[in-house]
Amino acid sequence: MMDWTDRHCRFFHRQLTRRALLYTEMVVADAVIHGARERLLGFDYVEHPVALQLGGSDPAKLAEAARIGEAFGYDEINLNVGCPSDRVQSGTFGACLMKTPDLVAECVAAMKASVKIPVTVKCRIGVDDQDPEPALDTVADGVFGAGADALWVHARKAWLEGLSPKENRDIPPLDYPRVYRLKARKPNEFIGINGGIQSLAEASVHLGHVDGVMLGRAAYHTPGILTGVDAAFYGEVAAVFDYPGLIDAMAGYAARHIERGGRLGHITRHMVGLFHRLPGARRFRQILSTDANQPGAGPEVLKSAFAAIDFTTAEADAA
Ligand SMILES: Cc1cc2nc3c(=O)[nH]c(=O)nc-3n(C[C@H](O)[C@H](O)[C@H](O)COP(=O)(O)O)c2cc1C
Repeated sequence: MMDWTDRHCRFFHRQLTRRALLYTEMVVADAVIHGARERLLGFDYVEHPVALQLGGSDPAKLAEAARIGEAFGYDEINLNVGCPSDRVQSGTFGACLMKTPDLVAECVAAMKASVKIPVTVKCRIGVDDQDPEPALDTVADGVFGAGADALWVHARKAWLEGLSPKENRDIPPLDYPRVYRLKARKPNEFIGINGGIQSLAEASVHLGHVDGVMLGRAAYHTPGILTGVDAAFYGEVAAVFDYPGLIDAMAGYAARHIERGGRLGHITRHMVGLFHRLPGARRFRQILSTDANQPGAGPEVLKSAFAAIDFTTAEADAA
């Protein structure tokens, strides 16, 4: 998610779940090819497994960008066919590609030919006045025909005229059954679902119909839910999560980042929702939103924020 799932966010989320696949922000293929690669693509090895999401619609450029991503060590390359922002539309990529399924298939074929790692696509169920039945089926047939390893579907349309990107994540109605029907039609392909899924319990219900569940805003705003993923979905033994260990790991990571010229706030901005509803959560948020952004703030600020959390009472914070 752009501006959210940067490398610091992903490092943090990886402390919460060892198994879930993490995704980068969308990076435009041209930027990968011509831009500052280490800044755009660099990541910490502990983030594995991690997928690089590309934006673009030129098969040759996407193939080149995918190759660069593979060489950087990414585990998967994902093509964005879902983002509705104006900037993205003017570059003819993102959600407007739902209208050119042959081009999407060409892009996938070119990417598949250039890398050995999985190539996947994330799309919508349709755009504007498209009928989601044929629109989604045609995109799916094209991408799987071109060798895609998975299709992730944000289960709502994007309305390209008149809605902001933010509105396009909430206003077009969700249609989970449309994605389930796609899976029923393509039993041998990996179909994942995304959009509006708030909890692991909801994710379990979806897994009765499709192969994977992708959490966006819920994972970002309430990252604590990720601590249940490995036991719920990957067969790991459930254990009490080691929050002091997490804070130590994040403090160490922050110290290394600050040593290299970074700021504490680059990291802690992703952590404000960690203790959602626990007593002391409001104070934790306050410290991370203020003190952690002061010039010279160091890892001790994170530790003092953590000290505000009271694990001894189970009562929800009214904040
Ligand atoms: C701030 C923000 C940035 C996003 N950036 C991307 C992106 O770069 N690529 C993408 O495929 N989706 C992006 N999305 C959409 C999410 O991946 C997801 O499809 C959408 O939020 C619906 O899922 P959710 O209800 O679980 O959040 C973004 C969403 C948000 C809130």
